[in-house]
Order: sequence, then C-alpha cells, then structure tokens
Amino acid sequence: MSTEQQSSKVNSGADKPAPATGKLGVMVVGLGAVATTMIAGVEAVRRGLAKPIGSLTQMGTIRLGKRTENKAPLVKEFVPLADLNDVVFTGWDIFEDNVYESAAHAKVLDTETLEKLRPYLETIKPMPAVFDQYYVKRLNGTHVKKGRNKRELADQVIADIRNFKKTVDRVVMIWCGSTEIFLKPTAVHETIEAFEKGLENDDIGIAPSQIYAYAALSEGVPFANGAPNLTVDTKALIELSKKNAAPICGKDFKTGQTLMKTVLAPGLKARHLGVSGWFSTNILGNRDGEVLDDPQSFKTKEESKLGSLEYILQPELYPDLYKDIYHKIRINYYPPRGDDKEAWDNIDIFGWLGYPMQIKVNFLCRDSILAAPIALDLVLFLDLAKRTPELRSRGIQEWLSFYLKSPQTAEGLYPEHDLFIQSMKLKNTLRHIMGADLITHLGLEYYD
Ligand SMILES: NC(=O)c1ccc[n+]([C@@H]2O[C@H](COP(=O)([O-])OP(=O)(O)OC[C@H]3O[C@@H](n4cnc5c(N)ncnc54)[C@H](O)[C@@H]3O)[C@@H](O)[C@H]2O)c1
Repeated sequence: MSTEQQSSKVNSGADKPAPATGKLGVMVVGLGAVATTMIAGVEAVRRGLAKPIGSLTQMGTIRLGKRTENKAPLVKEFVPLADLNDVVFTGWDIFEDNVYESAAHAKVLDTETLEKLRPYLETIKPMPAVFDQYYVKRLNGTHVKKGRNKRELADQVIADIRNFKKTVDRVVMIWCGSTEIFLKPTAVHETIEAFEKGLENDDIGIAPSQIYAYAALSEGVPFANGAPNLTVDTKALIELSKKNAAPICGKDFKTGQTLMKTVLAPGLKARHLGVSGWFSTNILGNRDGEVLDDPQSFKTKEESKLGSLEYILQPELYPDLYKDIYHKIRINYYPPRGDDKEAWDNIDIFGWLGYPMQIKVNFLCRDSILAAPIALDLVLFLDLAKRTPELRSRGIQEWLSFYLKSPQTAEGLYPEHDLFIQSMKLKNTLRHIMGADLITHLGLEYYD
C-alpha cells in the first residue's frame, strides 16, 4: 500500500451499493425558485440544451490511486448514480401553479429557455400541501390539505408517497419549501412514540416540514432538508431514519455568502491570520427574501448562517486570533433585484504583530442558479446512500455536509464547515463504499 493511500476496510462485493436500475422518483416539497430551477435545468440537460454546471455528480471527477496513475473517472461513472434520464419529478406546493408557471414567476431562467421546456414543465402540477401560516407568516396559500389533526395530514402525505411509488422504482424527498419560524426541539421530538402522540394532539412544536419528513421516513424514503428549518434535526426523526433505513441530511443549501465564507475562512485560518470582525449583508428580492423579512423566519436563517465561522476558526484553540471576532449578518428584502442577490462582506483581519488589514467581497450571485445543482446532487446521493448497505441505516449522512450551511451531525459532534475538508470527506466516502483506497495526501513514496 502506498503512503498516499490508505486501504479502505470495506468493501467486498456484497457491501457495495446496489445498481441504480429503473426510475428514481423525486418528491419536492415547495415548487418555488430553487425547485423549478432544478427541474427545468435537469430537463434542459437531458435535451442537450445546457450543461449541468455546479453539479459534482454530473461534472465532477474522482482521483483513484497514485497521482502518477492518472486515473480520475467521472464521479457518476465511479459510483452507481441514477441517470438523469431516469429521474421523475413530482411535488407539493401551497399554490396551484404548475412548474412552468412557478418558474416564470420566479424569473430565474429566461423566457426563451422556459418556452422550450414549457410542455414538459406544465405536466408537473403540485399536490395540495400541508401548510399552516403560523409557521411561515408571510405566505398564505390556498392549495392545502385539510385534516382533523396533524396525524391525518401525515397520512395524506403517506398516501401521496404510496401512489407515486406505484409509478417509479425508488423515491427520495427533498424540502425546497420556505423557511419556517425558529423552533427548538421539545419533549415531542424526543422519541418516535412522543412524536406520533404529538401528531394526534396537534402539538405546536410539529411544523409542516416535520410532517412531510415523518411521512417520508415512515415509508423508508430518504429526506434532504434544503432550508434551515428544524425538520429532521431531532432525536425522534433521526431514530425513525435509522429504523427504516431512510438516510437524511440537512440543513440549508450552502450557496452564496456562506459558500464564500467557508472558502475564505479556512484560508485565513490555515495562514494563522487573525479576524476581528466579519460583517455580512445581503439584498434579495425573491419570495424567499420576502419570507425572510419576517423576524421569526429570519431568526431560523440567521442561526444557520452564524455557525460556520465559529466552527471553522475555533476561537477556543486560537484565542489570540479569533476570540473577539464580531460576526454580524443582515438580510434585506429588496424586490427590484428578484433572485439576483447581492452580498457584501467586510472582513477585518490582522497579521504579523497585530497590524490590521481589510478584505471586501462583493458577490453578485444568482441564488437559485447556485442552489439547483446542490438540490440535484443531494437527491442523487441520498438515493445512492439508500442503496448502500453501509450507509443506509446510519441516519444522518454527514459526508453530504459539503452542500449544507448548517450540517447535521451525530449528537455531541461539532460540524465540519471547511469546504475543502467537506469535499475530501465526500470523495473519501465514495472511495470507501466502492472499496477503493482512501487518499491521505501524504505522498512520501514519490520521493523514495
Ligand atoms: N435560493 C437559495 O440559494 C437558497 C439557499 C439556501 C437555502 N434556501 C432555502 O430553500 C428554500 C426554498 O428557496 P426558494 O428560493 O426556492 O424559495 P421560494 O419562496 O421561491 O419557494 C418556496 C416554495 O415553497 C412553498 N411552500 C412553503 N411552505 C410550504 C409547505 N408547507 N408545503 C409545500 N410548499 C410550501 C412556497 O409556496 C414556495 O413556492 C427556502 O427555505 C430557502 O431559505 C435557498
């Protein structure tokens, strides 16, 4: 064994992922900007109209063996992922708009592209949603399910899943719905039994996103959480995920500003440069921005965005460099910009002998263009996890932290936010499940 590689303990043939045969059904909760950009994008790629830029599953390669071997197959050729031609979409929304209408409303993709895809996009019509305005103050939809209590609503989602299962071979669910108010786990989230009782009693701690997640996990369907909502980040639903071999991951797609933070902060830390302040502000004008204009939804987003710096910079290990950092985040709803978000970061840093310096980042990004490939990759990788004996009953798929702003981890374990460590972890997980050697980057053997 070379010193740059480490033998992976797994994997004899039996432990490897099962092949991705047949159709993969993707159930999307919330057919808004991100979801419609993902769905339209997948169709555009299938028709050869565009390239899946930003998607690791579609464009990424993975190095195998020594650097001198020059072996770097495409990720999708190395691990058995569902082919985009086998992906079938459905979903729920609180508005009746089909995917074409919703995409046109979101104004992320241009009219020319949308018109080409129109006949297909019009076929995807949302099922009525589980919704309660108490949890998303700024929205008021009419296309909603009715039930005596939350148990009945969960059963209706389960019925939707079972119906869809009749038409496809495997199913994955992803939350692309709005940001709900900030919720903390309570007694109802402690065990599966307590949660099920809470459904019967209409417990206020159970938000709509948790009802969808419960339905998915009860049916053995993997669930990805693209919003900062509590959703599957509770003992009860983690237990259900493990019990039914339905992998989960969350929370919150890591797109614009946080992506930049988790690129820059590891660099500053690696060079032991100090940071005294990091001020981040955004303007955005899409429906997401409108929802986040409500202080209770903003609080959920703020918590999700705040964590990354603290964990990357580790002030407890480096008090001289990061103990007094002032970290502030603002999101401002500004309709004229629509989905074209603009983010400004002012970073006050200090170097040798404490001399101060500044870095300014002005990121003019397109929120949903950055989020769509993440949503697609999460769906494809969760389906892979479900077909992988070593992964499917582990609950949280921490190796997918790469895509998430506030990664879920095992209890007591701090999350890894550094994008480069996350990327290494993801690729080593893929090597591991396929029985390939892990890459350690030691590489002394080249100098023997
Ligand atoms: N756009 C990004 O780059 C980005 C990045 C990270 C996270 N997110 C998160 O992803 C989510 C979606 O973002 P978006 O820009 O697509 O927002 P959006 O407002 O365009 O879409 C959300 C959709 O969810 C629907 N919805 C809300 N509650 C629902 C429910 N209970 N059931 C079914 N549908 C429901 C809304 O009607 C809307 O159509 C948000 O929570 C957002 O914070 C987005």
